[in-house]
Amino acid sequence: MTTKGIILAGGSGTRLYPTTAVFSKQLQPVYDKPMIYYPLSTLMLGGIRDILIISTPEDTPNFSKLLGDGSHWGINLQYIVQHAPKGIAEAFIYGAEFIDGAQVCLILGDNLFYGKLDFFRNALQNNDGGTVFGYRVTNPESYGVVEFSSEGKVLSIDEKPSKPKSNYAIPGLYIFDSNVVDISKNIKPSQRGELEITEVQKAYLAQGKLRVELMGRGLAWLDTGTPENLLEAAEFIAAIEKRQGRKIACLEEVALGMNFISKDDYLKSVNALPNCSYRDYCLRIIDDF
Ligand code: G1P
Repeated sequence: MTTKGIILAGGSGTRLYPTTAVFSKQLQPVYDKPMIYYPLSTLMLGGIRDILIISTPEDTPNFSKLLGDGSHWGINLQYIVQHAPKGIAEAFIYGAEFIDGAQVCLILGDNLFYGKLDFFRNALQNNDGGTVFGYRVTNPESYGVVEFSSEGKVLSIDEKPSKPKSNYAIPGLYIFDSNVVDISKNIKPSQRGELEITEVQKAYLAQGKLRVELMGRGLAWLDTGTPENLLEAAEFIAAIEKRQGRKIACLEEVALGMNFISKDDYLKSVNALPNCSYRDYCLRIIDDF
């Protein structure tokens, strides 16, 4: 089953102000590369090659300058401007034409995942309706929260509840069938005036078509919402990269590893990079492939 991908990279990033006064949050570095490289690599590692990036009128040209049409990574990138951020579910309304009847995976541009992604590839294969993931956290009240039975059946979904019914937050990575477009068009804005992604999930739940897959302990889901979170995410990435001598979310490497591009294409795009440690790295690892 082919899946189309959407990266939502809008929002005003007020919690990171003044860092975000000129460039959006998802263009800020997380250690050695822009934040959006990480969610983009997650989609690519899931085998997704048709990807729509939705951002603000100011930032969409910057994303396009940074990532281009994706052909150098063997993917197809398209861009759409979101005029005013009115909630995550709005991505499916903006993306209706792009989705065009396909299954769709939405990832938030500030959500970073690190670890074995088999759970994600399996979920893409097995989705029937909607799939959310559950990740154990100490502060579920800051997120969408999923409650489930001992058999793993979803019982309830709540957006930032003051009294969470479980410790499982729902990360910003969602898989839905193409009905998500109509469902999103029919939900009502919340009190904060947003089309909440949790309302979409509840609609699938009401139809008995929402599944939850737990992300295991070996997986890192990192937050980048505050200056502290952003620093911790950068330190985490730096620690792993320095220890292993392998980069996380090096898109050239991911494209080659996924066979989206040939070795020749890889060398062509790496040689076009300016002299920098990222380029040195790409040249150093070529013998591993
Ligand atoms: C949003 C969603 C929430 C989800 C979170 C993941 O929260 O509304 O359900 O758990 O992303 O990052 P927000 O970014 O609005 O805090």
